[in-house]
Amino acid sequence: MGSRLWFLLLGVLLLWCSSCSIVNCLGVNWGTMATHMLPPKTVVQMLKDNGFQKVKLFDADSTTMNALAGSNIEVMVAIPNDQLQAMTDYGNAQEWVKRNISRFNFNGGVNIKLFTLLSIFCNRYVAVGNEPFLKTYNNSFINITFPALQNIQNALNEADVGDTIKATVPLNADVYFSPDDQPYPSAGRFRPDINDLMTQIVQFMNKNKAPFTVNIYPFLSLYGNDNFPFDYAFFDGAAQPVVDKGTGIQYTNVFDANFDTLVSALKAVGLGDMTIMVGEVGWPTDGDKNGNVGNAYRFYNGLMPRLASNRGNIKRVCFLLHIVFDAFVCLLLDEDAKSIAPGSFERHWGIVRYDGQPKFALDLSGQGQNKLLVGARGVDYLPQKWCAFNPNAKDLSKLADNINYACTFSDCTTLGYGSSCNGLDANGNASYAFNMYYQVQNQDDLACNFEGLASVTTQNISQGNCNFMIQIATSSAGILGPSVVVVLLVLGFVTLLVV
Ligand SMILES: *[C@@H]1O[C@H](CO)[C@@H](O)[C@H](O)[C@H]1NC(C)=O
Ligand SMILES: *[C@@H]1O[C@H](CO)[C@@H](O)[C@H](O)[C@H]1NC(C)=O
Ligand SMILES: *[C@@H]1O[C@H](CO)[C@@H](O)[C@H](O)[C@H]1NC(C)=O
Ligand SMILES: *[C@@H]1O[C@H](CO)[C@@H](O)[C@H](O)[C@H]1NC(C)=O
Ligand SMILES: *[C@@H]1O[C@H](CO)[C@@H](O)[C@H](O)[C@H]1NC(C)=O
Repeated sequence: MGSRLWFLLLGVLLLWCSSCSIVNCLGVNWGTMATHMLPPKTVVQMLKDNGFQKVKLFDADSTTMNALAGSNIEVMVAIPNDQLQAMTDYGNAQEWVKRNISRFNFNGGVNIKLFTLLSIFCNRYVAVGNEPFLKTYNNSFINITFPALQNIQNALNEADVGDTIKATVPLNADVYFSPDDQPYPSAGRFRPDINDLMTQIVQFMNKNKAPFTVNIYPFLSLYGNDNFPFDYAFFDGAAQPVVDKGTGIQYTNVFDANFDTLVSALKAVGLGDMTIMVGEVGWPTDGDKNGNVGNAYRFYNGLMPRLASNRGNIKRVCFLLHIVFDAFVCLLLDEDAKSIAPGSFERHWGIVRYDGQPKFALDLSGQGQNKLLVGARGVDYLPQKWCAFNPNAKDLSKLADNINYACTFSDCTTLGYGSSCNGLDANGNASYAFNMYYQVQNQDDLACNFEGLASVTTQNISQGNCNFMIQIATSSAGILGPSVVVVLLVLGFVTLLVV
């Protein structure tokens, strides 16, 4: 009797986790810096519809986590930079692990052994900070990141989940470099100002079998550097090869060169075979002259086959082996409230739009069978109403101020140079700004006045490639979906029988 139940239990576990054993190492980053968010359940369904088995979060928000519970999707939760200081206290780290990891997925209803067993099949990561050593942060996190990392991993170990849940620090590619007199990958080293710190961090992560996590953005190599060879940002081999004088390897894309620079930096500290995980890689579709659907299509449709191949240092062995290559596409959805300090493109990283609809064709398996992703289903939109500049308005003296106001509290990044709405005339600019504000305000009538300069219309006032959007209708998300409750109850029941 007992053993039969064990088989049943194992069966449930294997079914639960079966998709983890299919070698699919591609995930998505799920950010939530948007004024209007799709219900988390809708997003989770979209992830499943497209076969994504991994998702990386930028926090441990309970609504998101609850929507993911029972979904069979492997989750990487994160501790934002502004919480790193708190995690330098071991008690806080223990508390964080208790609240976010031990309780995660099972809401305390299932015992920890079962949880650990499950984790063996779907191992997960905790991201400690996000690019904390970026030069722009002025060393703010330089003294706290490593203690926070140690505390979190030690707390995971103490909670008996450290074998399967690893703490890692997602780092920007600017933590390593090649010297000016040897500008090729095999000369890669960690940045001198943080070399000792990086050495300690990678030794600690290696000891705990955690991966090195790096964000690599060929788009950023191109952005703000007009001398950068355009084709070298892509994977189709069109670029003039760059020869590594140390190894003789010819590089035709900056991604491979960058990745190998990291491998050399790790080798230089004696850890050349350390597991590397790409935490973010992607291409924006708007907000810059190089940010458009055509370039994103070219980039992703080179990246996917690249990830599927075994060339160079990248070994696509994902499941329970030592050399892991996981990549997370940045980002899943466009986010209209993300900081644009780095550039207007920041709000357009999504492989799908703000409303979960696909932007371009893509084959996630890298076989070149491009088709549109499955869009979010059952999306509720606000009514078909737009806010437009009123061309009969008499007093235009306040127009600039009103446009400015509208754009301060909404997203006008597509109006900029090289972006999708840059060709609008002055009236079009005004309408665009007014409409974006009106949609952010959930089409409140009072939000489409602008001192008599605007009025509501039911005509779609989109022009050419410039889409005048209708926002999604947001409702408060449910705590636990019915299917999750059923799964939890069944698993809880099985456990009770077994124990
Ligand atoms: C994770 O921990 C933080 C800090 O203790 C807390 O604010 C958050 O709600 C937790 N998340 C979950 C899913 O419990
Ligand atoms: C970093 O320092 C510069 C110059 O001192 C300053 O302008 C900038 O605001 C600082 N950034 C942060 C994130 O503190
Ligand atoms: C980090 O610690 C070093 C050594 O204790 C100290 O000199 C430096 O000022 C600290 N940096 C910051 C940003 O706190
Ligand atoms: C519309 O707005 C954009 C961005 O502010 C600006 O570059 C462009 O010159 C404006 N067009 C007209 C015709 O005013
Ligand atoms: C408005 O028109 C644009 C361009 O023709 C189209 O892409 C968009 O889907 C339309 N919007 C709505 C809400 O119908």
